[in-house]
Amino acid sequence: MRLAHSSKSSREQWSGKLGFILASIGSAVGLGSIWRFPFIAGENGGGAFVLIYLVCILLLGLPVLLSEIVLGRTALRNPVGTYRKLAPGTPWFLTGFIGMAATILILSFYSTVGGWTLAYAQKALTGSFSQIGINQAEAGFGSLIGSPLQPILWQAAFLILTAGICIFGLQKGIERTTKFLMPLLGVLLIILVVRSVTLPGAMEGIKFILYPDWSHVTLTTFFEALGMAFFSLSVGAGVMLTYGSYLSRKESIPSATGNIVVFSTLVSLAAGLAIFPAVFSLGYEPNTGPPLVFITLPAVFAQLPMGGVFAILFFLLLAVAALTSAISLLEVPLRYLEDEHSWSRKKSTFIVGGIIFFLGIFSTLSFNTLSGVQLIPGLPVFDSMDFIASNVLLPTSGLLTILFAGWKWGVAKLLRESRGDHEAGFPLETAWGFIIRWIAPVLILAVFAFQVISSFI
Ligand code: PFF
Repeated sequence: MRLAHSSKSSREQWSGKLGFILASIGSAVGLGSIWRFPFIAGENGGGAFVLIYLVCILLLGLPVLLSEIVLGRTALRNPVGTYRKLAPGTPWFLTGFIGMAATILILSFYSTVGGWTLAYAQKALTGSFSQIGINQAEAGFGSLIGSPLQPILWQAAFLILTAGICIFGLQKGIERTTKFLMPLLGVLLIILVVRSVTLPGAMEGIKFILYPDWSHVTLTTFFEALGMAFFSLSVGAGVMLTYGSYLSRKESIPSATGNIVVFSTLVSLAAGLAIFPAVFSLGYEPNTGPPLVFITLPAVFAQLPMGGVFAILFFLLLAVAALTSAISLLEVPLRYLEDEHSWSRKKSTFIVGGIIFFLGIFSTLSFNTLSGVQLIPGLPVFDSMDFIASNVLLPTSGLLTILFAGWKWGVAKLLRESRGDHEAGFPLETAWGFIIRWIAPVLILAVFAFQVISSFI
């Protein structure tokens, strides 16, 4: 039996499997995967962490990713409409709203950092990093984020770029852009990896990420890897469900999912190989997040021969990675308003973009004017938004998604629908059914409990 298709015959589809896969990798590979993954890997036993991460991807990331894509393609709807269609008259549609709230919140603070990446790309292009040392780099970053107006303007520019792509719709906007940007990202990354690993003393950085050191593996390592598998694959927010709703039934979802996972992981590893050998080679301490990218790396580039060029390439890479994740986040509410409320894409883009910008201003101001304001005790506005979206909303809607797929809708239907028009099943279906029903939900609950508990102690 095939479930009825949407009455909306005008609904756009990806032009092919490649467009879908590139856009999904674009969503997965972002600020989180580039500046968090390599460092967390390095701190938690390098290759040992990478192995644990791969197991977490298999037991948690893949099942949720697969479920989201299948649900979206079956219902041909946004996240809210998908649950309304597959479980009419039940409260399951709230799962869609939780995911959508996460996308709006994530984009509002993601655009703060997206704005910084654009500011740094511009600084790199004008050669501002050519002579700086670590102290000047620190002062430069402090003065960018410490002034109220400048980062808001960069944030606006980042959101205008994001909205400017989404407003053109699926094929002309998202697909065309990601088909151009993802290969560009690949080329930039390869150039940066080659430069970094051929520096004298690079081996220490390579070892930091890849050498399996089991003595650094603790219980925390497992939770870090689980949480990372979730955020870095963009699952839980309904992004992949929405992207799946544009996928033709001709495509087999398990194989597409495999491609997305393999390439996203390779990019995260390559990001590590582009960053840490250079950092170690020049004698800096490895770190993570904004300090790594906006303070350590400019100082590293300043010392490299032709460092100015590599700085331009790196900040372009980061801006591209952030942008392709941002468009996937914006697409979720846009799709919802078009499907459920028949808004035009123009109207939804302007209004949702405006709301996200408004919310985002508070997260940007939390580094200067609003630095004393805390939404959650102990956490400034930016960190509070991150905590609510990444540690509460994402795992909640991810857990509900997998429970819906495995128990309410049913594994048999899920696996059958995942094949699309293909008759053949995929290997180890029974094992997958077990993972989806039992293992993935228990693991999500474990991550949830760990993240909430660890952020309060
Ligand atoms: N995966 C993106 C990153 O690693 O930066 C972040 C992200 C995008 C998370 C989209 C969730 C999401 F729905």
